[in-house]
Amino acid sequence: MFKEAYRFGHLAASHLPYLNDPERRHDIVVDLVHNLLEPNPRALAILEGYFTEGEGRVQDGRLRTSLASGQLLVENPFMVAAGLDKDGKMVLALYTLGASLIEVGSVLFRPQKGNSRPRLHEPTPKTLINAMGFNSEGVFAVREYLKRYKDSDIPIGINIGLNKIALQDQERFPEKLYPYLFAWVAELLCDQASYFVINVSSPNTPGLRGLLQEEGFLNDVIWAMQEVMRKKGVCKPLYIKLSPDLDPQGTEKVGGVILRHKLAGAICSNTTVNSEIKADLGQQWVDVKGGVSGAHPMYRSLVLRQIAQVYRLTQGSVDIIACGGLDGFEPVVNAAYAGANAFQLLTPLTRRKPGPFVFHNLIRDSISWMDRVGIKNFNAIRGLHADKFT
Ligand SMILES: Cc1cc2nc3c(=O)[nH]c(=O)nc-3n(C[C@H](O)[C@H](O)[C@H](O)COP(=O)(O)O)c2cc1C
Repeated sequence: MFKEAYRFGHLAASHLPYLNDPERRHDIVVDLVHNLLEPNPRALAILEGYFTEGEGRVQDGRLRTSLASGQLLVENPFMVAAGLDKDGKMVLALYTLGASLIEVGSVLFRPQKGNSRPRLHEPTPKTLINAMGFNSEGVFAVREYLKRYKDSDIPIGINIGLNKIALQDQERFPEKLYPYLFAWVAELLCDQASYFVINVSSPNTPGLRGLLQEEGFLNDVIWAMQEVMRKKGVCKPLYIKLSPDLDPQGTEKVGGVILRHKLAGAICSNTTVNSEIKADLGQQWVDVKGGVSGAHPMYRSLVLRQIAQVYRLTQGSVDIIACGGLDGFEPVVNAAYAGANAFQLLTPLTRRKPGPFVFHNLIRDSISWMDRVGIKNFNAIRGLHADKFT
């Protein structure tokens, strides 16, 4: 059955890359997956068969990962990063590819269209530049979509962002209201969330990233979200997503906030607006708005340096979820050596190579590697080279 699925899927998938507008391609995929594929168990089996090369979901106890000091246990450390499934419409399909957890979002309190198109570019076969600007159907729509998965036990992270209007209209939305905008989303999605992420590191909403440097603001958001959870009698792990463009002082500040509030940890990192990286992609990209993601060596080293800094700062006491350019086993292992204990991916899933095969490849390669070197847990190498990334 899986072998047949593999052949059929190969035929179907080989046509999609020829649609040359990446956002249109993505919209079509979301629509097909949400309306046709997920409601149909046979179609899901075909998806699984194809993207696991006929093998089906592979599990191995050595990949099991404990997050948030044991509060959250996941089957493997490989997850889908926020931004691919903004509204929670294809959680089951993404899980079927082998990921252990899907981070949905960024979810906003109010629906918002985001920036004008074109806003997603493919400068090279392995990178993206996006200036989406938080397109979101809003928290109430997301809550409805997620009901589909309520009996599934699939771990879902909820990444929360801020509406652009809140940052622009100071009269209607004074800054002291922002923490409640985060907390309301958390309250409405509390039952569905395995964890929450505070995202003020996206570069595509003017004024947003400055908030990452405001300790008082972060304290207020954390307080408001924890208060909501206290009232509901639950305690979900809380993460802050960092920007790779933060300088070491900025990273240290956020690390201090994570330690003081005993948060679950950090996600390192969001996309970068680093102009050297854009210039390296080609002069035509230097003035294009948006953040770079994917397998670019300079972007990867920004991310690795930040992971190692947070690891040294927190002495490995909190989770560090690596995110940025992890398109195969080697960059994942480098991130683990730098200090990460879980790994998120977005861009590699959307590009022709490795595409959605990436989770199966990562699991298979990790297992072969652990067999070869004889370690009992993938996490055993965490932080061993953190001192080398300075
Ligand atoms: C099209 C696109 C949309 C994204 N949207 C979000 C988002 O809404 N919230 C967020 O926290 N990160 C968002 N990101 C950033 C990713 O979660 C991730 O941090 C970044 O892409 C680096 O990982 P990658 O190299 O595997 O793509 C987005 C990235 C892309 C390419």
